[in-house]
Amino acid sequence: MSPKKRINIAIDGYSACGKSTLAKALAKKLDYVFIDSGAMYRGVTLFALENNLIAADKIAVPRLIELIDSITLSFGPFDDNGNRPLILNGKNVAEEIRSLTVSQHVSEIASIKEVRVALVKQQQQIGEEGGVIMDGRDIGTVVFPTAELKLFLTADSHIRTQRRFDEMQAKGDSTSFEAIQENLAHRDHLDVTRTESPLKQAADAIVLDNSFLNQEEQLAFVLKLVDSLLK
Ligand code: CDP
Repeated sequence: MSPKKRINIAIDGYSACGKSTLAKALAKKLDYVFIDSGAMYRGVTLFALENNLIAADKIAVPRLIELIDSITLSFGPFDDNGNRPLILNGKNVAEEIRSLTVSQHVSEIASIKEVRVALVKQQQQIGEEGGVIMDGRDIGTVVFPTAELKLFLTADSHIRTQRRFDEMQAKGDSTSFEAIQENLAHRDHLDVTRTESPLKQAADAIVLDNSFLNQEEQLAFVLKLVDSLLK
């Protein structure tokens, strides 16, 4: 009997448009591995903050590049909420990487070529065997250009801000709606306009605007696509 085909699924899109939520639900349904590539860029950003490589909004880029190979990133075992925490040099940093401070610097860190080269290499290794769902900004264009299914997610910016605001409130984070709105707009701008692997829709990606879809509707739409690919 031939083994069941396991495809790779690339999910790209703007900040806070539900990529990870969709990816996680899909991975559970298909018994695939979910990788949140944004968490890895957040991990490098936290490392830079903790090692005083960011001061007065300036990044010590040459020093960060020197240290990049000493940064170990992995995902730990599932926690009670069905999430796999990011482990940075042996420490669970799942909470720290979601702070506004990390969000304020991550897109600049992610625009550094050497940072991207190091992380893309790790991401591609994870995807070698298939059965991986990865979300980010350059997954369909750079990390898995031959992924069998590519999705490009988008949603109204006010709705995205509200979703992220609710998510942070639920975790007891009191960052204001306005601060989140500004951060999402700032990151989207940097992500779309950077030279290295900018956020853009792959030519063969399927666009999904989930502004008015609930999580079940969104999942059902994608599962249909997966089904037709696996037939
Ligand atoms: O969860 P959210 O959509 O807010 O962002 P994220 O996926 O955690 O990604 C954080 C940041 O990392 C993004 O704003 C990008 O600047 C960067 N990123 C990237 O450049 N390439 C990726 N594949 C994933 C994230």
